[in-house]
Amino acid sequence: MPKILSKERLASNIVQIEVEAPLIAKSAKPGQFVVLRINEEGERIPLTLADKDTNTGKVTIIFQEAGASTKLLGSLKVGDEIKNLLGPLGTPAHINKVGHVVVVGGGVGIAEIYPAIKAYKEAGNQVTTIIGARSKELLLSESKLRGVSSEVKVCTDDGSCGQKGFVTEILKEMIEDHSKEINLVYAVGPVPMMEAVCHVTAPAKIKTIVSLNPIMLDATGMCGVCRVTVGGETKFGCVDGPEFDGHLVDFKELKARLSAYKDKEQESSNHVCKLLSKC
Ligand SMILES: Cc1cc2nc3c(=O)[nH]c(=O)nc-3n(C[C@H](O)[C@H](O)[C@H](O)COP(=O)(O)OP(=O)(O)OC[C@H]3O[C@@H](n4cnc5c(N)ncnc54)[C@H](O)[C@@H]3O)c2cc1C
Ligand code: FES
Repeated sequence: MPKILSKERLASNIVQIEVEAPLIAKSAKPGQFVVLRINEEGERIPLTLADKDTNTGKVTIIFQEAGASTKLLGSLKVGDEIKNLLGPLGTPAHINKVGHVVVVGGGVGIAEIYPAIKAYKEAGNQVTTIIGARSKELLLSESKLRGVSSEVKVCTDDGSCGQKGFVTEILKEMIEDHSKEINLVYAVGPVPMMEAVCHVTAPAKIKTIVSLNPIMLDATGMCGVCRVTVGGETKFGCVDGPEFDGHLVDFKELKARLSAYKDKEQESSNHVCKLLSKC
């Protein structure tokens, strides 16, 4: 069973783990994810491959303790084993040389953009990275992202680091400042943030790729739980995505489907909190 090799708490409810998974590390590509089950009774949760090391056979996962399963995962220690780790899953990001790519990361999405930035840069693009979080403590991986980006622009909701405000404001300023053309925008983060990014880029006709996070179950294209409407067609987030043309995504439907099980999720989360004696 895959073993947890390291664990670091990056913020009060955001945890990074490195897991022993040589076969996944060998074949994973930017944009792909894993599905894991913590124990025999555990549900399957999808998490992005935030990094990998083919030499040591480790994969990095960064997750927010959002509910029952992620809180349980966050309670595991170095040396503990995870019941199953399936991957790499999903269609890899389509990385081409397009010129100037702006990568936008919000919230825990900041931790997920490193492989894409690195790949866009290696393909010969200039990459401007915009990261935004509620406050300074939640600006994850900033120095790591500076190491692979051409430039990094930072903002926080409360102004505790970088520009005060949202990632979309920086993006809008960049679009309005016509000195540097933007050829592609790539956004990962909370659904409202990705939707807002698309609202900013659509009038300027800048192609925008978003990494969607619909609820997934089997993650192999068989159950249909992860369906999203893109350009009027039904797509499966787990196999057709998770990346899609943001201007074609039906965000209203995605948001409704994501909140369909709120009551049950709250119940499970409360139960786990009692078990762990926290929250
Ligand atoms: C392709 C993909 C990659 C993801 N990568 C990351 C990541 O790198 N880091 C990270 O913190 N989160 C990531 N997520 C979201 C993560 O899967 C959910 O936060 C997690 O499943 C929540 O489970 P829970 O039991 O802890 O919380 P719950 O209380 O059960 O759910 C909290 C919220 O998470 C969402 N969610 C619940 N179950 C699932 C599920 N089976 N599949 C997807 N979403 C679900 C719902 O919106 C729900 O309202 C990703 C989701 C997808 C689809
Ligand atoms: S999660 Fe079942 S089809 Fe995508």
